[in-house]
Amino acid sequence: MTWNTVCKTGDIENGKLKEFDINGKKIVISNFDNKYYAIDALCSHMGGDLGKGKTNDNTVICPKHHAQFDLKTGKVTKNINGFFKAMTRKEAKDLNSYNTKIEDGNLMVEL
Ligand code: FES
Repeated sequence: MTWNTVCKTGDIENGKLKEFDINGKKIVISNFDNKYYAIDALCSHMGGDLGKGKTNDNTVICPKHHAQFDLKTGKVTKNINGFFKAMTRKEAKDLNSYNTKIEDGNLMVEL
């Protein structure tokens, strides 16, 4: 595990998320009251791009089949509905979350 400098802290507005590619891994980082949280950017159901998902408080909604994930922990807060589950025979699983820290105004993620 190494710390990677991703951006300046001011690059992610409060209450928003942004997607980054860190050494080939897609991560979304969100800012809540100047605390930063990092989780996988690809949905665990079928790879939907969570960086393009809508947010609702600290939840992101997958743009593909609408599973919802906690941006602070990566945990599924609402799984896909029965129709999509029957169609795809698969459910969303909790995503990985990653440690973050700030050094000299730089936001860093441990991967
Ligand atoms: S790909 Fe995200 S809910 Fe299906």
